[in-house]
Amino acid sequence: MSEHQEEFAIRVRDLVVGFGRQTVLDHLSLDVRRGEILGLVGASGGGKSVLMRTIIGLIPRRGGTIEVMGEPIGGRTRGAATAWGILFQQGALFSSLTVRQNVQFPLRENLVLSPELMDEIAIAKLEMVGLRAQDADKYPAELSGGMTKRVALARALALDPPILFLDEPTSGLDPIAAGDFDALIRTLQKTLGLTVFMVTHDLASLTTVCDRVAALADGKIVAIGPMRELLQSEHPWVRAYFHGKRSQMLQHEMR
Ligand SMILES: Nc1ncnc2c1ncn2[C@@H]1O[C@H](COP(=O)(O)OP(=O)(O)OP(=O)(O)O)[C@@H](O)[C@H]1O
Ligand SMILES: [Mg+2]
Repeated sequence: MSEHQEEFAIRVRDLVVGFGRQTVLDHLSLDVRRGEILGLVGASGGGKSVLMRTIIGLIPRRGGTIEVMGEPIGGRTRGAATAWGILFQQGALFSSLTVRQNVQFPLRENLVLSPELMDEIAIAKLEMVGLRAQDADKYPAELSGGMTKRVALARALALDPPILFLDEPTSGLDPIAAGDFDALIRTLQKTLGLTVFMVTHDLASLTTVCDRVAALADGKIVAIGPMRELLQSEHPWVRAYFHGKRSQMLQHEMR
């Protein structure tokens, strides 16, 4: 094992991804350190979800290399996906399955366990994300938005993954619920030693939970560092994004 593998959970080099004539990611490179919470920002349609899905192995790439926890991700592998902790942007739960069955889904897909053990794990994961055992028999339609996100998170944690991929986990939540969710991510990262790769538009998340923030523009990572450094970036898109009206207050707070 090389030094890099010790230090980095994810290494992306010269990644090229496109669809038809469209190039979405254009020689993109990015390192995610072990144990950090990395926030990814970028324009809508800029390729954030595509980057996440490519790292996971769900989208084939045209060029470049990707390593996750020291293992190269094959250009066309799809198999690994269920073993990672993933909360998709359209992270719908299976509506015909109960909360318990949703959390157990990755276990059923990947392991052979007794029903008793599966139940124990499901309850433990639900408690880990701040839900109660009695929520286990509810159906997704009976949950609030915040609870739905927590169940999706419990499902993502089912297989004790070393890395958690979150695509806009707090979108659609009110600021208090979003803040609670952020605090939960931070707690899980600390207690489980997780590496977290989080796509987010949420400025509060970026300033309070992320160790570093990466900005995606023109198919590349154009700035990466602690939020403080991103606020100093000279890159036109990054400046426009963080120095817009809505972020003036936050910016002020950071000084
Ligand atoms: N499976 C696909 N087939 C064809 N084009 C796709 C596919 N997935 C994404 N794209 C295109 O890739 C580009 C990047 O999409 P992506 O979903 O990564 O944006 P995003 O940065 O996550 O945006 P948002 O902030 O709105 O979620 C878009 O132009 C999109 O239409
Ligand atoms: Mg997206």
